[in-house]
Amino acid sequence: MAIRGDAAPAVARPRENEPQMGGAASKQDPARARQRPLPEPRPLTQHGPAQVIAMCNQKGGVGKTTSTINLGAALVEQGRKVLLIDLDPQGALSVGLGVPAQNMDRTIYNALMERRTTLADVRVPTDIPGLDLVPSNIDLSAAEVQLVSEVAREQTLLRVLADVRDEYDYILIDCQPSLGLLTVNALTAAQGVIIPLECEFFSLRGVALLVDTIEKVKERLNPDLEISGILATMYDTRTVHCREVFSRVVEAFGDTVFQTVIHRTVRFPETTVAGQPITTWAPTSSGAQAFRDLAKEVIAL
Ligand SMILES: Nc1ncnc2c1ncn2[C@@H]1O[C@H](COP(=O)(O)OP(=O)(O)O)[C@@H](O)[C@H]1O
Ligand SMILES: [Mg+2]
Repeated sequence: MAIRGDAAPAVARPRENEPQMGGAASKQDPARARQRPLPEPRPLTQHGPAQVIAMCNQKGGVGKTTSTINLGAALVEQGRKVLLIDLDPQGALSVGLGVPAQNMDRTIYNALMERRTTLADVRVPTDIPGLDLVPSNIDLSAAEVQLVSEVAREQTLLRVLADVRDEYDYILIDCQPSLGLLTVNALTAAQGVIIPLECEFFSLRGVALLVDTIEKVKERLNPDLEISGILATMYDTRTVHCREVFSRVVEAFGDTVFQTVIHRTVRFPETTVAGQPITTWAPTSSGAQAFRDLAKEVIAL
């Protein structure tokens, strides 16, 4: 069953070859200076159990949803089976994959709140074989309040995931921009956290609070939790400010920062309108290549 928005893509398909950055700029680009060859992932002969990764930052608009969709699609290109979970009542992950979740009766909300509804009941395939989605819509906004009175409220998502974990190699959870109970559920269910970070000064302040929350969850609820990596997003080589912020993030977090950076490009907003990952929308673009590199880094962890 193909579930798509009925509107045709409203943007023109991009040209195959984009202009690349000039040689002079690369010399002062701290991201380029860190690049090392990445190992080719080994093909898999069997699938599961999944590694669960929460895509998390309490700041909105930093690239959580974009990274979830495109990392997921890039992992699938490497023969991995991937489940994406939309844990944001805004439902942007679902929309970004062309799934009309706002009209759906059964979403992640039902799997979390109803004992008889499983994750397998609410997941849907996407247009990309090997990439499945658990959609979300505004119904989920009630869950934050309703979960408060549940027994083992922080472990609800963990319990629900157990059902499908063996079918996938990766489960990526797109968190909402808050450190509330839903996000704590994601951190309790995950082994890894990827922190998408926009390269601007104020981003750094929020990360300290996020790292603190991750440490608390690790101590109290989930000893297996680790930060998989910090992902620099909306990177713009041309601005000194962006390069400086990136250098400071690397100073503070060292090798925890992925060597792959996601450059700022209009290709990403376009993919949302198209309802597709960049790997199929603009397969030869530098943005698609960046997510392929990120997938190799994630597989190598
Ligand atoms: N690398 C990028 N370059 C340009 N625009 C981007 C990039 N990544 C994301 N965007 C756009 O920025 C907005 C916020 O991104 P999104 O992934 O939804 O962030 P979040 O999930 O953290 O709120 C979206 O409109 C998205 O299309
Ligand atoms: Mg989002």
